[in-house]
Amino acid sequence: MTQTSLPESKMPVVPPRVLLGPGPSAAHPRVLQAMMSNMIGYLDPDFMLIMDEVSELLKRVFQTDESITLALSGTGSAGMEAGLNSLLEPDDTVVMCIYGFFCERMVEMAGRLGANVVPIRAPWGGPFPAEMLEEELKNHRNVKLVTAIHAETSTGVRQPLEDLSRLAKAHDALFMVDAVTSLGGNEVAVDDWDIDYCYSATQKCLGCPPGLSPVALSPRALDSVKSRAKKPTSWYLDLALNANYWGFDRVYHHTAPVSMILALREGLRIVLEEGLEERFARHHRNSLALWAGLEALGLDLVAPEEHRLDQITPFWIPEGVDDDRVRGMLLREYNIEIGKGLGEFAGKVWRVGLMGESSKSEYVLALLSALESILPREGFEVGPGAGVAAASRSLAGG
Ligand SMILES: Cc1ncc(COP(=O)(O)O)c(C=O)c1O
Repeated sequence: MTQTSLPESKMPVVPPRVLLGPGPSAAHPRVLQAMMSNMIGYLDPDFMLIMDEVSELLKRVFQTDESITLALSGTGSAGMEAGLNSLLEPDDTVVMCIYGFFCERMVEMAGRLGANVVPIRAPWGGPFPAEMLEEELKNHRNVKLVTAIHAETSTGVRQPLEDLSRLAKAHDALFMVDAVTSLGGNEVAVDDWDIDYCYSATQKCLGCPPGLSPVALSPRALDSVKSRAKKPTSWYLDLALNANYWGFDRVYHHTAPVSMILALREGLRIVLEEGLEERFARHHRNSLALWAGLEALGLDLVAPEEHRLDQITPFWIPEGVDDDRVRGMLLREYNIEIGKGLGEFAGKVWRVGLMGESSKSEYVLALLSALESILPREGFEVGPGAGVAAASRSLAGG
């Protein structure tokens, strides 16, 4: 049958949301502009200069001189899978520190590879105790890899990494870290913390759309991939092949997502123009205001303050209040997206993300004001203006 006209679009224009969920967060206008550049070949010598610049900027953001840095095609899960697939061979032992939803995703992926997976589970909502890793490592010889997540987005906990790294190295294991939610919003010190493989994502604190997974790979980790007995089962996510394209050799691997790499270059430039320290301070300032506002509304936060992440704040949904209805009202009436709970926190928490371009004081105040109007309609009384007032005091340094 010949179609004569286009089907009518139900959503011809993307609505301008305030993205305060777990990601994607807002993309910087300069980043979106960069994506509109001319198309260029992914082996063009001029594009190679751009890739060199991206690697160099990534080194600064990952705080590494030692590791090679590149951006894998795919989202944060691609970085996770590339690491596990390239660093683990069947029957290799991987000890996994588990304290949230994304940690469990790692267990699932490693299991599919036929690795000997040793998950150590700690309660959700707090940091993982290093002593648990210390005890477990005593039970194993030849541990190939220890894994941890720096910023567990499901629980809002910032995991200290130095002790876990020290223990992994004491057992001659590689140390792999997920920095999907922390890179660009919190310090991620790959060299100082002796991380062998660290991966992130573009759509959270780097102010870009989803689509790339920036990674840092230590010389030891790269040697380990290159000296495997068998090649990794994933050709696309083979870190050695990807490193050959990003490194000196520039060996063709796959058609690189040129526009996303241009976006990332601009996003990284913006991060470094602001300055890492100032950027971390901005994330902290806005989160302090959010926490003060939520608490003034009588809402309870999941993570204890000393272990809280600045990027994402899960808080308990008050008794009797409808999860979906409230998030729906925020979206339809106020254009604000917040996140729902995952895994064992599903239906129990809401999650507010203040990441990268979405970490702004005006968004904090807009969200609190919207909650002040919505929650009483759900039968949860709040002091009118209490949240906005507390957040404003916090922002003013009070
Ligand atoms: C900590 C963490 N790791 C991994 C992922 C998976 O990343 P992506 O959704 O970009 O594949 C997420 C996503 O939110 C995350 O928060």
